[in-house]
Amino acid sequence: MTFTADCLLLFGATGDLAQRMLLPSLCALDADQLVAPDLRIVGTARQKLDDEGYRDFARAALEKFLPEERKPAIEPFLQRLHYQPLDATQTDHFAALAAKVGPVEGGLAIFLSTAPSLFEPTIAGLVGSGLAGETTRIGLEKPLGTDLATSRQINDAVAAAFPEDRIFRIDHYLGKETVQNLLALRFANLLFEPLWNAAHIDHVQITVAETVGLEGRVGFYDGAGALRDMVQNHMLQLLALVAMEPPASFDATAVRDEKVKVLRSLRRIECDQTVTGQYRAGAIGGSAVPGYDQELGQPSGTETFVALKAHIDNWRWKGVPFYLRTGKRLPERVTEIVVRFRDVPHSIFAARGARTSPNRLIIGIQPEENITLSLMAKVPGLDRGGIRLREVPLDIAMDDAFAGPKKRIAYERLLLDLVEGDQTLFVRRDEVEAQWDWIDAIRACWADNAIEPRPYTAGSWGPSAAIALAERDGVTWHE
Ligand code: BG6
Repeated sequence: MTFTADCLLLFGATGDLAQRMLLPSLCALDADQLVAPDLRIVGTARQKLDDEGYRDFARAALEKFLPEERKPAIEPFLQRLHYQPLDATQTDHFAALAAKVGPVEGGLAIFLSTAPSLFEPTIAGLVGSGLAGETTRIGLEKPLGTDLATSRQINDAVAAAFPEDRIFRIDHYLGKETVQNLLALRFANLLFEPLWNAAHIDHVQITVAETVGLEGRVGFYDGAGALRDMVQNHMLQLLALVAMEPPASFDATAVRDEKVKVLRSLRRIECDQTVTGQYRAGAIGGSAVPGYDQELGQPSGTETFVALKAHIDNWRWKGVPFYLRTGKRLPERVTEIVVRFRDVPHSIFAARGARTSPNRLIIGIQPEENITLSLMAKVPGLDRGGIRLREVPLDIAMDDAFAGPKKRIAYERLLLDLVEGDQTLFVRRDEVEAQWDWIDAIRACWADNAIEPRPYTAGSWGPSAAIALAERDGVTWHE
């Protein structure tokens, strides 16, 4: 149902995500007049604050997390904010929340940025207080469960109150410009699509490397680990966007139909196609950092690194490995996709001693947004009797190509789409469940084989077994 909400109700309004991402995104949308002037934002959380108290809280967060040039927008933005304290487990607290929200003419957009254990009582409270009407849509922040069973339980609870076309499951990677640009690259250019298949692509690598460690998220992260924190959602979404068939149009149903087909075609992974690791003390960028155990304060069997070799069993990708790796405390923060094409079928230069290297398309998602196509070129010169070839990059730095547009936080796109009701960049129930189904099989395999994470030094690219995983196939990770 299409409607533009005129009230945004934010659960978890004092949480870390709200401070770092949601409030700065909303402030930016306000400053750029991308949301209607009468959009009201009501925050709610357990903390006992009134409107003014919450505005002070938000001001402090915005001062800390907004870039300098955005700061003049803070004061006018704060006037949109209202606040109602609430304990989501107390059903009777919701009447006061409904009163605070008041009559909503256009529609209500709700964003749940709380622990998933609070999703069910929150939904019950929303229903009981009349806040889950026909012009209410709901956004859900990850994690949506810890496995397929718990994810279904959450999805069932939400589905009892909201139809799927009013449920917006967030994967913030889909809000990133460069991730959306993957679709433009593939489907707004003729060049790549004819080659985008097993006949021409040797393998694909997807890396999501972080330099940060636990960052104080002790309780959550140790219960999740890299596979569930990063692969189940962000990495599988990237993989689906790279591998999907061309959708008939850029709309929510067409795009998500194609993504889910890829996710359902993922071959069950065997243990020997996976590597897990946990960082030990080391150094990043010249600074010493503690090991995971030390940060946590106790020994743990949780993985902070995963590398996988995945296969998609369909016509397009038959026999093409997708190497995925992600980890914390790696040497640099980088998210990138490398598409390695096959070598030319016959080199006319071989007899003259010149070697060709296969073309690679490197899609840099962060921190730099760039697209590089490696091509073979003749090295200039009068080489007697021969020819020398070298790989040269054809580089597009998005910042240069589009000088001007501001860098946006992924949540700006997603909050705007939530308010306006565009589901294209949100994850549908069948996608999430296909993701969990595949991930659960990996975890079961680890449990059955008592696989423990291998140690790696903080600041390295993970356990050496991750390098061997690719090298067994003659593949080198792109660095
Ligand atoms: C979150 C994970 O979903 O994504 C974090 O829970 C991770 O552990 C973060 O650090 C990475 O996001 P980004 O946008 O910084 O790549």
